[in-house]
Amino acid sequence: MRELMTKLEQASALDRVGDRLQRVVQSILRPQRVRDALHGVWLGHPLHPAMVQVPVGSWISAAVVDLLPGQRRAATALVALGTFSAVPAAVAGLNDWAGLARDQRRIGLVHAASNSIGLALYAGSLAARLNGRHGLGRALAYLGLSAASTGAYLGGHLAYKQGAQTTQSVSELHRISDGWHSLADMATLPQRQLVTREVDDVSVILYRHGDEVTVMLERCPHQSGPLGQGEVQEINGHDCVVCPWHGSTFRLNGGEVVHGPSANDQQVLPTRVVDGMLETRLP
Ligand code: FES
Repeated sequence: MRELMTKLEQASALDRVGDRLQRVVQSILRPQRVRDALHGVWLGHPLHPAMVQVPVGSWISAAVVDLLPGQRRAATALVALGTFSAVPAAVAGLNDWAGLARDQRRIGLVHAASNSIGLALYAGSLAARLNGRHGLGRALAYLGLSAASTGAYLGGHLAYKQGAQTTQSVSELHRISDGWHSLADMATLPQRQLVTREVDDVSVILYRHGDEVTVMLERCPHQSGPLGQGEVQEINGHDCVVCPWHGSTFRLNGGEVVHGPSANDQQVLPTRVVDGMLETRLP
């Protein structure tokens, strides 16, 4: 299985289809507000994995109920719920997929194809059940569950092995030692400019606004872009940093994500000033 996954990650033959689909998804889901909503910016957490709970739960429940006598109506209702709820979950997944790196998009494409086959089989199962052909409906549902399970395996690989839509920056905290670390002389720290410093080899950005100074990890939670090279923009009265790679935007007074593709906030570190020196430590 590991070999197969590695081959899929390197399968450049998938890029023609992938690149075309990426352009289609990006042109349809163009409004920033729609993209942010589907990424889960409002939730502070990727939305797609939360949404897939409904179809997966319904379909697995239908598979169990199908084994029990006299439960045709319950099984049909569960298949219907799973089939209809899979559509918005797929749209959220495509929105995330369009912002991934190329090797992630290859796995994501096969993940989407497996789930699309699963969805089509469940739609066929629903149609068969509504026409009274419950035996066929059951068979199609079990085939659909097999396809969706393959999709789930690939989704797990995408998230846990390739790190798609997981926070890339927070593991940096494990490289920072305990205790306070000296960062900068407040007298020399400029106002409203990004300054990059290191804490135990971990890059952080400093942003001073009046007497308040924010210290946050520099590595973007989306795909490790250098936030220190980003642009500062005022959004809704808050100074924000825009990642130079894909435009994820974070508030500089708290790290809250404002625009995706990241759905995760950026990690901010506690600060104090001792004898005019700015210090930081692990949260
Ligand atoms: S690395 Fe993608 S938005 Fe920052």
